[in-house]
Amino acid sequence: MTMKPLLAASTAVMLAGPVLAEPQAEVLHWWTSGGEARSVAVLQEQFAAEGGSWTDMPVAGGGGDAAMTALRARVLSGNAPTAVQLKGPAIQEWYEETGLADIGPVAEENGWEAVLPVRIAEHMQCEGQWCAAPVNVHRVNWIWGNKQILDEHGIAMPTTWEEFNAAAETLKAAGVTPLAHGGQSWQDATVFETVVLGLGGPEFYQQALVDLDPQALNSDTMRQVFDQMRVIRGYVDDNFSGRDWNLATAMVMNGEAAFQIMGDWAKGEFLAADKKPGVDFVCAETPGGGFLYNVDSFAFFKVDGDDRQQGQALLARLIMGEGFQKTFNLNKGSIPARTDVALDEFDDCARQSAEAMNAGAENGSLLPSYAHGMALRGAPAGAITDVVTAHFNSDMTSDEAVEQLANAVASAM
Ligand code: GAL
Repeated sequence: MTMKPLLAASTAVMLAGPVLAEPQAEVLHWWTSGGEARSVAVLQEQFAAEGGSWTDMPVAGGGGDAAMTALRARVLSGNAPTAVQLKGPAIQEWYEETGLADIGPVAEENGWEAVLPVRIAEHMQCEGQWCAAPVNVHRVNWIWGNKQILDEHGIAMPTTWEEFNAAAETLKAAGVTPLAHGGQSWQDATVFETVVLGLGGPEFYQQALVDLDPQALNSDTMRQVFDQMRVIRGYVDDNFSGRDWNLATAMVMNGEAAFQIMGDWAKGEFLAADKKPGVDFVCAETPGGGFLYNVDSFAFFKVDGDDRQQGQALLARLIMGEGFQKTFNLNKGSIPARTDVALDEFDDCARQSAEAMNAGAENGSLLPSYAHGMALRGAPAGAITDVVTAHFNSDMTSDEAVEQLANAVASAM
């Protein structure tokens, strides 16, 4: 016997290593709209291509409120899913409550620290340990417009709230619904936070919706914010109540309304319907600018079994892969969380987003979205949203709203 085959045989044994179980993952998420489903399919396909077996657990409902209720029920019954779409301080809240799987070995092996902005990395860590993997950065403060309607009425994308109101009045007088909106509390909160940032500026946003400073909550600026919310209420159609966000996006697409204020997952919806930015629809930052970030991520509950643990490690590795981050985000409307993914193939809205994010990190206008669970823990965030929604759906005055806001936050802390 020569040396050659012997060497080859031993190398083969070493490469095969221990026998691996088939990676399994049950994945709880709320990506059920056209653009969202197309995006999560990218992960599903890559997982399958690497030998994984994926059990889908989609819980419909934009913003994830229903998904989080489903998660709690599963955890309470002692049967947590393998992987969960979870983000912001909720990651740390769950870590404190039940513990989360340590994905440090995957993070270290793949050099996550070097390719993630510090701010994003911090959201993914629990007591210094990696406990979640980020897929993207969504910008929340966008306004989308139907290009044809705007051109027809000689309207430019508004850069101040006054301009927005003037445009909306013109449209209303012409019989066009100015704003496509879905009356669900998280959508009301989404519009509200863009108005807080736009009218109050970054420092005020930070004080009011991140630091929960009672003076900021109970201020004239906050009164003006509620005044503007009341004005906006006059620009939505009669059937807005309960409408899903993607149906509101469809109204802009189909020419049933001129604008929508929504994060850039709305762009994922336009793209899934084959609409082109700058041609069929236009994007602009909401009046006042700044950058409200919303980073989607997955966390992994502690589960038994080699197959499920390997499923978690495989998912974590894929999620942070360069190829995945590019393809996923091209579909989702967001930009990659990794800083080293080239944006050549991304559209102008995405490039504008990346520029604003970098500028915001320099000048203090890069801020966490409260409406999308990035700024606050559940209790105070819920308390704010309750008041915002109650105000939007009643004839509550701005004075009453401000007073209720300050009280609700005080009792939720
Ligand atoms: C956000 C989530 C986005 C988007 C949106 C609507 O909270 O971060 O990825 O899908 O909800 O469902």
